[in-house]
Amino acid sequence: MPSTGRISQRIAAITESATLAVDAKAKALKAAGRPVIGFGAGEPDFPTPGYIVEAAVAAAREARFHRYSPAGGLPELKQAIAEKTRRDSGYEVDASQVLVTNGGKQAVYEAFATLLDPGDEVLVPTPYWTTYPEAIRLAGGVPVEVFAGPEQGYMVTVEQLDQARTDRTKVLLFVSPSNPTGAVYPADQVAEIGMWAADHGLWVITDEIYEHLTYDGVPFTSIATRSPELGDKVVVLNGVAKTYAMTGWRVGWMIAANDVVKAATNLQSHLSSNVSNVSQMAALAAVSGPLTEVEDMKLAFDRRRRAMVTALNSIDGVDCPVPQGAFYAYPDVRGLLGREFPAAAGPVRPQTSAELAALILDEAEVAVVPGEAFGPSGFLRLSYALGDEDLATGMQRLQDYLGRAR
Ligand SMILES: Cc1ncc(COP(=O)(O)O)c(C=O)c1O
Repeated sequence: MPSTGRISQRIAAITESATLAVDAKAKALKAAGRPVIGFGAGEPDFPTPGYIVEAAVAAAREARFHRYSPAGGLPELKQAIAEKTRRDSGYEVDASQVLVTNGGKQAVYEAFATLLDPGDEVLVPTPYWTTYPEAIRLAGGVPVEVFAGPEQGYMVTVEQLDQARTDRTKVLLFVSPSNPTGAVYPADQVAEIGMWAADHGLWVITDEIYEHLTYDGVPFTSIATRSPELGDKVVVLNGVAKTYAMTGWRVGWMIAANDVVKAATNLQSHLSSNVSNVSQMAALAAVSGPLTEVEDMKLAFDRRRRAMVTALNSIDGVDCPVPQGAFYAYPDVRGLLGREFPAAAGPVRPQTSAELAALILDEAEVAVVPGEAFGPSGFLRLSYALGDEDLATGMQRLQDYLGRAR
């Protein structure tokens, strides 16, 4: 007997992406003529650098790029990614260990699908990027949240990881700089976590997509390089989206041991085949080019980061640790929950960050993502990858509105 549900249980269990839901609501309000300021989007507001676009235009004119290419990626791009990895994090890999994917998101999905059997547990430092638990569950795995709050800089400790570990734990997910908190783990803590994972024979899947976005001179530390004792049980995920303002081009990659990459390539060969050749050639120009434009973007992000954090911390009931990486602030708003806010239909007392975010959107015309998208309630995520003027207007609205809480 086939199942009777219209949608398979596996797919029906996937929740709607809360970040996309906020974005959709904000866009709908905008389309209706409301001047909404959006802090929801996780993408740079800059255009892709010109030399990268030119490489894509040239590729589009070449007939060989109009055809299927190897499912795992163009050989010249795989080579350039191996070299870039050596340059940026000191991690020595061969081109054969690289799989080029349709954005970092596909690399996330394929990494879990390739490593997990049903029931295998993955330690997920929380707050987490909203896609990880869904990708883990789709692969049959079990996400195990390990929460680290603002008082510990949103960074988990080895003691917490150890408490959450069971004999079903197979993988530790490690993300620094973090989306959504902007936390960047110091080198010593990275080493300690790597050593602990190695001692317990765990795999580490590490997402390094924000590697170039750190501030205040804080260095990025790759757990793959810093913890050689992990041996070949490390999977590095990365992509061009955030570093080169290339979110729409859809190029990411996975770096792992040859057997893992071979298995993941088999999966991709049936799922999506090669990433668009034009996008791959754009990515080749990006990863083999200079990092000067990233530095310029970083200056703007840094200015906006400081303006945002100062504004947030000036609001009574809001506590925002200074994020040192990526382009998000993650204020703790538990001090606002249960308070009375004015609203068109009469005063409201939001009890959760989801209710607070909905209220802020309706009453202050500012879109923020509630903490529920990334773990427990009580927090908001605000992206500072938007123009200075919009940022100033949005923060002023937030200060005015949240300042009216009783
Ligand atoms: C931590 C993290 N990893 C991976 C991705 C995926 O990026 P993309 O699929 O656009 O390359 C994102 C995007 O928001 C992210 O924040």
